[in-house]
Amino acid sequence: NSAIPVITIDGPTASGKGTVAQKVAQHLGFHYLDSGALYRLTALSALRRNTPLDDEHALAKVAEHLHCHFDGMHIFLSNEDVSDAIRAEVVGNTASQIATLMPVRQALYGLQLGFRKAPGLVADGRDMGTVIFPHAALKVFLTASVDARAQRRYKQLIDKGFSANMKDLSMDLKMRDERDTHRSSAPLKAADGAHHLDTSEMTAEQAVQQVLSWYAAVKTN
Ligand code: CDP
Ligand code: CDP
Repeated sequence: NSAIPVITIDGPTASGKGTVAQKVAQHLGFHYLDSGALYRLTALSALRRNTPLDDEHALAKVAEHLHCHFDGMHIFLSNEDVSDAIRAEVVGNTASQIATLMPVRQALYGLQLGFRKAPGLVADGRDMGTVIFPHAALKVFLTASVDARAQRRYKQLIDKGFSANMKDLSMDLKMRDERDTHRSSAPLKAADGAHHLDTSEMTAEQAVQQVLSWYAAVKTN
């Protein structure tokens, strides 16, 4: 299936990857892979089974045997809708912890490749362009300042009725950035040939238009 086009969108937390990737996929009629959700599903499953978080082989088994499916906006684990459950703070933190383990990453490798289906795929995460789809037609590295990202998370949380404060959010973002950038397995970094896009001063729609115009350019080449 190497003829099926892939667009990768990698970047730090709250840079807008998910929002932009989903909209680009909608515009093009492509499939969408939220790779972070797979790490979150593995984390949720491990937490529920009380899998020791220091046992990388047991965690890899959990990842290998994930019974999950994606249906538009909803994510299911063994037929239970866990779309909200995987967004919990504890699940995000556990996901970021187990994502540092190579056996877990390897266990999720094949599952991610399976999302590449006609007519095309938009995949977002940390290592989509560097490790999972190194031959993608278009690679994008999305960034935004810590302030802009903290403000976006703040708004998302307040809109959902949660309480939040900017100081804690900024600290949490910096900690995640540190862990994602400095881990030895598949660290967050721009892929060779990636187009960089700083969205600090952009709306999500402007970012979508930029990605679509880059894609139109590679398609005609
Ligand atoms: O919401 P946030 O950006 O923090 O996380 P996410 O994209 O839902 O991913 C959850 C965790 O999985 C992140 O903390 C990453 O460390 C990890 N992850 C990864 O290692 N590789 C990916 N391709 C996607 C996510
Ligand atoms: O997936 P990631 O963690 O990178 O970010 P997200 O979950 O897509 O959250 C980004 C939030 O910022 C969403 O509420 C977007 O509407 C908003 N936003 C954006 O994505 N891009 C901009 N250029 C401006 C705002």
